[in-house]
Amino acid sequence: MWDERFDREDYVYGEQPNTFLTEQWQQLELAANPGGVLCLAEGEGRNAVYLATLGHDVICVDLSEVGLKKAKLLADKHGVIINTEKADLATYETKANFYQAVVMIFAHTPPAIRRRSLNQARKALGRDGYLILEGYSAAQIGRGTGGPVTTDMMFDEQELRTVFADDEILVCREIERDIREGAFHSGIGSVVQFVARKTEPSS
Ligand SMILES: C[S@@+](CC[C@H](N)C(=O)[O-])C[C@H]1O[C@@H](n2cnc3c(N)ncnc32)[C@H](O)[C@@H]1O
Repeated sequence: MWDERFDREDYVYGEQPNTFLTEQWQQLELAANPGGVLCLAEGEGRNAVYLATLGHDVICVDLSEVGLKKAKLLADKHGVIINTEKADLATYETKANFYQAVVMIFAHTPPAIRRRSLNQARKALGRDGYLILEGYSAAQIGRGTGGPVTTDMMFDEQELRTVFADDEILVCREIERDIREGAFHSGIGSVVQFVARKTEPSS
């Protein structure tokens, strides 16, 4: 399904990075000392390329080979290098306690994969590393402005708080905002926004 969606010349979610990500990145001053960043379910690479232009060493993981090829092309266009790995988040195993940040933007998957991905995201973070996540919430159902069509695919504040219960949670909110990120995310949307800093290493 994702290969089919991405098999077109333009970028389905645009070429510009997600605005919640850019705001948080600036606020946390993460580019002051750029390190490794893992982008999960990164698709066509708009966020990864932005982070690479800031000097980060970025790896994008996604199921879609077509998406990852477009991510590489976008990186070439901006004169930066990104690493890509075709993998299913149902089985992907990350390095532990390693990355400066993990990015999950509209990384919607079925519930078991979502829970696993969130645990992998936490595991991947080095000490004081940040998870930055934005995704549609259940309130998005029926709006027709983007995202999955079933509640079980949506993000939920409580689930995020549970996975990061031992860490510092900086942002955890559900809001409505105007989203203009390509043809498929277009209009007022209900989203969960979440930022956590890992304070306890994974064993
Ligand atoms: C809505 S798109 C978001 C893409 C990107 N994060 C962005 O914001 O532009 C969702 C992405 O999740 C990926 N995806 C869905 N299920 C996956 C899985 N099981 N493993 C890895 N990637 C998956 C899709 O291939 C797609 O690129």
